[in-house]
Amino acid sequence: MYTGKARAYTNIALIKYWGKKDEHLILPMNNSLSLTLDAFYTETTVEFNKSFTEDSFFLDGIKQDQKQTAKITAFLALVRQQYQVSLFAKVDSRNFVPTAAGLASSASGLAALAGACSAALNLGLTDKELSRLARRGSGSACRSIFGGFAEWQKGASDQTSFAEAIVSDNWEQDLAMLFVLVDDGIKDVSSRDGMKRTVETSSFYAGWLSSIDADLKTAKQAIAEKDFTALGEVTEANALRMHGTTLAANPPFTYWSPESLTVMQLVRQARQNGLPCYFTMDAGPNVKILVEKKNLAALKQFLAHHFSSEQLISANAGPGITLLPEEGSEKS
Ligand code: ADP
Ligand code: DP6
Repeated sequence: MYTGKARAYTNIALIKYWGKKDEHLILPMNNSLSLTLDAFYTETTVEFNKSFTEDSFFLDGIKQDQKQTAKITAFLALVRQQYQVSLFAKVDSRNFVPTAAGLASSASGLAALAGACSAALNLGLTDKELSRLARRGSGSACRSIFGGFAEWQKGASDQTSFAEAIVSDNWEQDLAMLFVLVDDGIKDVSSRDGMKRTVETSSFYAGWLSSIDADLKTAKQAIAEKDFTALGEVTEANALRMHGTTLAANPPFTYWSPESLTVMQLVRQARQNGLPCYFTMDAGPNVKILVEKKNLAALKQFLAHHFSSEQLISANAGPGITLLPEEGSEKS
């Protein structure tokens, strides 16, 4: 048998990935830019074993049903095909992040799975190769290979679509993200289904795409110049535009809950009180607030009037994927 283990952290996009131009290869419509965080992560062990007669997937110790395992099996099939392996595998994963709640468990989950496969099979993949592989599991996972800021280059083919680290002179260490957990239940519309419906039916989608180049340029310049206001403003505007597209989809939908709107309003109020901070949201009702580390305590104190301490989780910039290759040896 061959076993390998990896840990990958979630990332939150400041400029969002929203829409695919190739659903099979997971090639995105647009580049995206993210910050990898240290608070939420996944640890995954993969065992390829000739005695297995099928793939199996355990999440937090619970065997997953066929539907949940399908994505994993498809990913393992790709690994088998790309690296000439014929063995079935058991995937044992632990999410230190709520699953499917818009907190990017798919990013850390699929990045960890790609890393664990590489470790188990001693593939010795470079970060770029790992990013490409993780992308095939879940698009946003390709950015979790890297710590700090990363940009996913959309590319035009399997080979040319991968994430890269953005050189930032460690500025991300001055930043924090505060997660406001208004709901950790499983969401109704997954990011995969939501973006597909939007691309296919939303009359606002063209507007979304036309704004991406300018947003990316602004974000990258803000990182280069360590300009928090510029980065925050473009982060918030980009998220609002992404969520706007869902309202014009058919059938229309939104990831926002009344509590999400309350948090957005409080963020605006905090800014008016002289506390710079900016929100972003993904495919779920929870809100993430970008803030400078020096202002994190004040922001938490401000929000503590409305939310319990369990609902406020802060994260710093996190590291890239960690492979634990010492477990990846042939044992029988
Ligand atoms: P989220 O906001 O949590 O990323 P998504 O709906 O985008 O929500 O993705 C959730 C899906 O990601 C799960 O249904 C599962 O298919 C996959 N996933 C989550 N955690 C893991 C994991 N540890 N290993 C493999 N796949 C995972
Ligand atoms: C809103 O990466 O979960 O979080 O590629 O279909 O697995 P699939 O989608 P996924 O989508 C993430 C969407 C997002 C924005 C982002 O992370 O860029």
